[in-house]
Amino acid sequence: MVSRRALLTTGAASALVFGLGGAWWHTTGPARHAREPWNTASAGLGDPRLDVLAYAILAPSPHNMQPWRIGLGEVGRFAVYCDPERLLPETDPAHRQITIGFGCFLELCRQAAAEAGLRADIRYFPEGQSDSLLDERPVAHVKLVEDASVNPDPLFSGVLDRRTSRLPFDNSREVDPDTLAELQAGALDDVEVFASADTALVTELRELATDAWRVEWDTARVRRESIDVMHVGKAEVDANPYGIALDDRIGSTTGMLGMMSREAMDDPESMAYRESFKFYAAACASSMAFVWSTTRTNTRRAQLEAGRSWVRTQLIANALGLSFHPLSQALQEFPEMAEHYKRIHALLANGSGDTVQMLARLGYAAAVGPSPRHTLESRLIPV
Ligand SMILES: Cc1cc2nc3c(=O)[nH]c(=O)nc-3n(C[C@H](O)[C@H](O)[C@H](O)COP(=O)(O)O)c2cc1C
Repeated sequence: MVSRRALLTTGAASALVFGLGGAWWHTTGPARHAREPWNTASAGLGDPRLDVLAYAILAPSPHNMQPWRIGLGEVGRFAVYCDPERLLPETDPAHRQITIGFGCFLELCRQAAAEAGLRADIRYFPEGQSDSLLDERPVAHVKLVEDASVNPDPLFSGVLDRRTSRLPFDNSREVDPDTLAELQAGALDDVEVFASADTALVTELRELATDAWRVEWDTARVRRESIDVMHVGKAEVDANPYGIALDDRIGSTTGMLGMMSREAMDDPESMAYRESFKFYAAACASSMAFVWSTTRTNTRRAQLEAGRSWVRTQLIANALGLSFHPLSQALQEFPEMAEHYKRIHALLANGSGDTVQMLARLGYAAAVGPSPRHTLESRLIPV
């Protein structure tokens, strides 16, 4: 047994803090209650809308904010709204990433509906939209219609196994070009998807991602926004099944050691601050390939389409056994990031004026568990 003092002084902490030690895992484990929606999605709730929505809430969203609120209307219809409490104004001042999350949600609605022989007629922003900020008007209206001509989507079989992995990837295992080529198959019409394992490009993107992460972590108000939605340890995550959960490999250990409190992480002099930086920087440095998507315009509609396409890309990647980790820092629109935003657009959009909507690192790593979710019931609102 290593003493806390020894950990603090030898630097062995980073191994234990971030779960490379591992023994504790078997005795503690992640908050289970917070993961229940993954186990109950297929249960069947007796209303096709709820059956569809039980899958849609498993969609990825920035910082796992799950910004969706659902108003059930007439039979077969529902409206999707954005919860203003779940925006990320510092890292996502234009609400672009949150909108992408809604795109992921709507694509899973469509897939789950198709699986049940239903066509999902989705109307984006039926009461209009703002290109500056999302407001209280619905993001989408969805109508489920029985339609014998609807085909199930083969990607749907992977929805319960889709994972974001922040582990370091195996640096001895390359991603071959044929595997990367398959990622493009899921792209939707208005979205272009690219993937590369080219050594020079991967080296450059690893550096860029790390530089951008440094800006995000070193900019106090931006860092604080992320820290504010971190939940440390099993009890906190079960009580707050959203945000950045530090309960599994990262959190329970550190929570127990008292090192990863929100206060400590926010203190640039602390070990928690440095280790948090190193953890994500190590992830960036272990990227073995990258996948990214671009759109011609950057309208709300384009962002929703980018989200729909993105979750498809992730489902394909996971089905191919690839670990998948979005790295959005350089794509963020806050002023301190401007230099890296420009750099990444020069690199990946070739000065075309297209918007790079998403970037993820790819590689191979051990399997990770699902992230927390609110229950579906708790996301329903009266209309
Ligand atoms: C628009 C968008 C941007 C994201 N950016 C990041 C990111 O920069 N870093 C990261 O670790 N995860 C990022 N993610 C992944 C989310 O954190 C993840 O989807 C969420 O925590 C839920 O986990 P899950 O995907 O395993 O269900 C992003 C997801 C979306 C939809």
